[in-house]
Amino acid sequence: MMDLIPAPLRVTRDRRGLARLDADTRLEAGPGTEGVARWLRATVGAATGLPLPGHGDGESRIRLAVDPALPPEGYRLALGGPDRLIAGGSAAGVFWGAQTLRQLLGPDAFRRAPVRPGRHWELPKITVEDEPRFRWRGLLLDVARHFMPKEGVLRYLDLMAAHKLNVFHFHLTDDQGWRVEILRHPRLTAIGSWRSRTKFGHRASPLWDERPHGGFYTQDDIREIVAYAAERHITVVPEIDVPGHSQAAIAAYPELGNTDVLSARGREGGALSVWDTWGISPHVLAPTEDTLRFYEGVFEEVLELFPSEFVHVGGDECLKDEWRASPAAQARRRELGLADEDELQSWFIGHFDRWLSARGRRLIGWDEILEGGLAPGAAVSSWRGRSGGIAAARAGHDVVMCPEQQVYLDHRQHDGPDEPVPIGYVRTLEDVYRFEPVPPELTPAQARHVLGAQANLWTEATEDHTRVDYQAFPRLAAFAEVVWSGLPAPAERDVAGFERRMAAHYGRLDAVGVGYRPPSGPRPWQRRPGVLGRPIDGPPPNR
Ligand code: ACM
Repeated sequence: MMDLIPAPLRVTRDRRGLARLDADTRLEAGPGTEGVARWLRATVGAATGLPLPGHGDGESRIRLAVDPALPPEGYRLALGGPDRLIAGGSAAGVFWGAQTLRQLLGPDAFRRAPVRPGRHWELPKITVEDEPRFRWRGLLLDVARHFMPKEGVLRYLDLMAAHKLNVFHFHLTDDQGWRVEILRHPRLTAIGSWRSRTKFGHRASPLWDERPHGGFYTQDDIREIVAYAAERHITVVPEIDVPGHSQAAIAAYPELGNTDVLSARGREGGALSVWDTWGISPHVLAPTEDTLRFYEGVFEEVLELFPSEFVHVGGDECLKDEWRASPAAQARRRELGLADEDELQSWFIGHFDRWLSARGRRLIGWDEILEGGLAPGAAVSSWRGRSGGIAAARAGHDVVMCPEQQVYLDHRQHDGPDEPVPIGYVRTLEDVYRFEPVPPELTPAQARHVLGAQANLWTEATEDHTRVDYQAFPRLAAFAEVVWSGLPAPAERDVAGFERRMAAHYGRLDAVGVGYRPPSGPRPWQRRPGVLGRPIDGPPPNR
């Protein structure tokens, strides 16, 4: 009914006919809901041209109220009677109800300005009762491989909010770029935020884009992003990836690297540049006390900028060959009494687990942090399938499910020759819609450790927001329904019904200007040969 996405728990039709919103309709904000009223005026008010004043004498009004009897993020949107109400268990619940109200007004309510000024607006006389299935409904955006300017990030926060997603995993550092200003280590951005060129095309026939690529967020930018997210009830979880995926940091501060190995291999003093290609860099952080102190300094500034409970420390794909080859790293390992390099990685992550816990935060890392022993308070992002999440939940750790087989949005969505992205794995809209975050292998008690799930959008192959849109949508809408709506078991999910409801949702995405992949395949401009998205001849290669 009403083609709401994500589908709400319950909708009842109270009366026939439509309720009218017009220039006299008041928007009354109860205690704690003033921010939602501001958001409604700035979005729905702007799109409809209705002023939605806080006070007035007319009959027509919408009340916003916090009702602690409702679930924390749940809401009740009652449009049947004269007293129209959005009640939520918290301001967040009221906000999700406001998102539903906007969808009910139709696609034009998603525009920035009225298409037909002076028209009145109608709402069905229904009651929606709704609450999310999971508390962690996430999207990862990789701004390290390709930088996304601040305005693009704010736009994605709006798109997340429109889909009732509430955790923005901000992948800020990687081999190919460091994107967050750290005042005490200025070279991280002065050097680490730029690479001189970028590889594109397929592995078999690489080409080079000789334009430099880079950019970073100042601390003021970050504060703006975090505040903008908070107004939309989205938590920003920063990721600073250690001890692998750190080549940009080592390029900025060579002493962070395994200088003995690098010098012996002809890189005098450990000199590296910010990486210009894809894959996993063999260069990783040296396991020294100085490295720990350096990153404690980084994390101190990160904690000041990001109030989130969880801080992501990466921990994925740390190649250990350099540690094996480095006499200094081996001496360090022996000194610490560690049996092998997996334990060295575990020691590294364990240090930051204790460091973050002592500051009232919680560490989360990719499932590789299970290898060599998981730090006691750590949570796990399960990306190499579900097994890391299952092992972690069984051991009593919280987990976020994001298996690459189903919710990696950088993977292509179709195996047709027109797909603009040269990544061979195919994850269709249906694959995402049939994703089940809670592995059936878990007991109910273990399953409670599944905080939720996130879709991950890596950007090796997406150099700007139009390509990010194409990768994200419509799959992100399917993902939103997986984490918000209580869908049945994967085999029983109504994919055709979802696709039918998407017809209305495409209208909303059009109104916002989202360059989604249409069901019929890419539009001509989406097929254009881009820097990274050369058309593919023959079957797509795996990356
Ligand atoms: C990952 O995709 N390397 C977490």
